[in-house]
Amino acid sequence: MTTAMHSFDALMDITARPEIVFVRGEGSYLWDDKGKRYLDFIQGWAVNCLGHSPPAVAQALAEQAQRLISPSPAYYNDVSLRLAAALVERSCFDQVFFANSGAEANEGAIKLARKYGARHSGGAFEIITFEGGFHGRTLATMSASGKKAFEPLFEPKVPGFRKARLNDLDSVKALINDNTVAVMLEPIQGEAGVWPASDQFLQELRALTSERGLLLIADEIQTGMGRTGKLFHYEHAGIEPDIMTLGKGIGGGVPLAALLATEKASCFEHGDQGGTFNGNALMCAAGFAVLDEVSKPEFLKSAVEAGLFLESELQRLSARHGLGEVRGRGLLLALDLKLPVGAGIAAQALQDGLLLNSPQPDALRFMPALNVTRGEISEMIEGLDAILTKAGAARRVA
Ligand SMILES: Cc1ncc(COP(=O)(O)O)c(C=O)c1O
Repeated sequence: MTTAMHSFDALMDITARPEIVFVRGEGSYLWDDKGKRYLDFIQGWAVNCLGHSPPAVAQALAEQAQRLISPSPAYYNDVSLRLAAALVERSCFDQVFFANSGAEANEGAIKLARKYGARHSGGAFEIITFEGGFHGRTLATMSASGKKAFEPLFEPKVPGFRKARLNDLDSVKALINDNTVAVMLEPIQGEAGVWPASDQFLQELRALTSERGLLLIADEIQTGMGRTGKLFHYEHAGIEPDIMTLGKGIGGGVPLAALLATEKASCFEHGDQGGTFNGNALMCAAGFAVLDEVSKPEFLKSAVEAGLFLESELQRLSARHGLGEVRGRGLLLALDLKLPVGAGIAAQALQDGLLLNSPQPDALRFMPALNVTRGEISEMIEGLDAILTKAGAARRVA
């Protein structure tokens, strides 16, 4: 595909993309190469927690790039030490391994659980994951995912994953056997359409896994770093997982992810885990700038307020247009459309200069920057209101 300004053919065609080429971003807005402005409620799939090109991250990257980029993972660098210490200080975990993507962090979590099983649980290796769950696109993380569309792909899958149902403790209990080493879940299933695990389910799961000597792995790649109103989602339920993965928001837009483990679970030996770019100083500098910002109490307080405002505005919109529930937490919310019209609404929104995501045909997902303003939320609601009004009128005529 070629337009007057660009040829797209040199990129592998891995997904259907609109013919829009973005060239600039600032806060909640993006601009394309024709100068058109877009209000962004996708933010790189919940990645840009401080918005596009936030000054704190831009400055940290620029300064770090001039000082030290990557001395090799075979040596320590000061920035990764600082970031690891800050994550440990703000969480229930004792050690960190830095990765470059969420899938890589989850792959590390799976390896760590298997290592734990080999060392402490008689070779147990199976991990119970959940129907509808999404953990990434490497072979093991696709196998761990419970996404229907992945089922026929890249067979044979990596063995050792059994799927339970979210919020159904009995379905977890039924899968536990002598080979089970861990239970792994997203506290809110994002790709599946923003389906939260209840706090009670998380508490019962923690109790069950502790009682049966199993590790609890929280995939907080989407829910972590303030997205749900606490720095980490597990804090809502008052539980402490054994392993947690972070991605997306941790880098504020740059490729950074992390695998965190308690002292008990952190059992890698030399040679088990590594990677050329892991923990490089440049990405860790961005991560430190993000963590510094997001862990300020006033930052999270205003993200919580923005989340409550967005939720109430979506509820009003839903009532006005006869739509379904608003679900999720903080600034990870979904609106149930009741009908499979999500893709059409997202396409119309794009034409109108509004980026919206429809992870399932009958749902819209909202994941704006955590510092989104009330004005930007109102602008999005007005845009969506106009689209829903037009769609409703078209349905009535048809
Ligand atoms: C919960 C969850 N886990 C893992 C991943 C994979 O992260 P990445 O795309 O950075 O590999 C995602 C990405 O959407 C995610 O939402």
